[in-house]
Amino acid sequence: MNYEKLFSQRVVHLRSSVIRQLLAVSKQPGIISFAGGLPNPKAFPVEDIREIVNKLMDENGPNTLQYGTTQGLEEFREEIARFVGHMGIETDAEQVLITVGSQQALDIVGKVFIDRGDVAIVGLPTYLGAINAFYAYGANMVGVPLDEHGMKVDVLEETIKKLKADGKRVKLIYTVPTFQNPAGVELSEERRKRMLELAMEHDILVVEDEPYSLLRFEGEPLKPLKHYDTEGYVVYLGTFSKILAPGFRLAYVIAPDSLSNKMEMAKQSMDLCTPPFTQHIAYHYIRNGYMKKHIPRIIEMYRRKRDIMLDAMDEHFPDGCSWTRPRGGMFLWAELPKHVSTVEMFDDAVKEKVAYVHGQAFHVDGGGTNAMRLNFTNASDDNIAEGIRRLAKVIKARL
Ligand SMILES: Cc1ncc(COP(=O)(O)O)c(C=O)c1O
Repeated sequence: MNYEKLFSQRVVHLRSSVIRQLLAVSKQPGIISFAGGLPNPKAFPVEDIREIVNKLMDENGPNTLQYGTTQGLEEFREEIARFVGHMGIETDAEQVLITVGSQQALDIVGKVFIDRGDVAIVGLPTYLGAINAFYAYGANMVGVPLDEHGMKVDVLEETIKKLKADGKRVKLIYTVPTFQNPAGVELSEERRKRMLELAMEHDILVVEDEPYSLLRFEGEPLKPLKHYDTEGYVVYLGTFSKILAPGFRLAYVIAPDSLSNKMEMAKQSMDLCTPPFTQHIAYHYIRNGYMKKHIPRIIEMYRRKRDIMLDAMDEHFPDGCSWTRPRGGMFLWAELPKHVSTVEMFDDAVKEKVAYVHGQAFHVDGGGTNAMRLNFTNASDDNIAEGIRRLAKVIKARL
């Protein structure tokens, strides 16, 4: 059967992601991989979960195994409304939609907002999963560069004006304000406010994706854009993947009621509901204080790993390279001298048994050719130091 002839326009242009190929290589034995975006398995609270599951099965087994509503378990949504309240987001259970990971939320955003050719403004660089989700709906993705304070809002303004003058329909700005994946930078408070102002001025939705904001190693927390949003311009995405376990596939969207309803309808045909089983567990996890105790443990582990990576880079990376020094999250971003292609260097790195993701994968404009994303959370402490030594050797050979 030749499926190609039958494929819909929506999928015909989808290609296997470079990341999949890179990750396959980086799983070869002996490779120290900084490529994946994985939390450290030692950060998973296995015993706590065992305790909660036993309790749930004893007290309410069949209920946790039943279908649930598309919107999500009511007591869990109430708990999430309280949880985000601590971050400065005023909301209620009606505005919370539980999703199967934030990745599903991004897909729903694409489904609800993007018609072929609509513009989605993203960072240069930006999270690859968002690029893929919006691309699948035919988005025209336009990049705006970042610096150490996040997306450059002056360039954002120029970009919006130019796009509008060219008759383009700008639907949304996608941002990961805190400890951005892949760059590890934070959008400053001033820029957060300006981004929202621009969105309001030009009637554009802001998709605020925050998987990492609670993994802060130092510095004062910044308020989410959603905190300043009185008019419903911001859709906020949170997830339990990095503070509990990605295998739960649990996340949430906070959006005004009318939009939340539309998103719920879009989700209904995807999966009917997010698994109630994991929702019940996560509900108990937050409600009974496990989460509060657990996050500091993750932070301590990841801060140490970040320090090991930065120390090793300071010691071994040659002159002419620069990198971000993230104050939280899971990634840092390194730039090599302009003439060094991290795509071409990848094979050398694999021969030296170390892996990264090249910067181009995170650029919608073909840029990032001399950059790479390094994950510092997944490898063991010893392997981080050794992996950086190997990588430095590969870079020096290229120089
Ligand atoms: C910025 C960003 N958004 C969304 C996701 C998807 O997370 P989830 O596991 O909740 O689907 C990730 C995962 O790495 C991410 O980095």
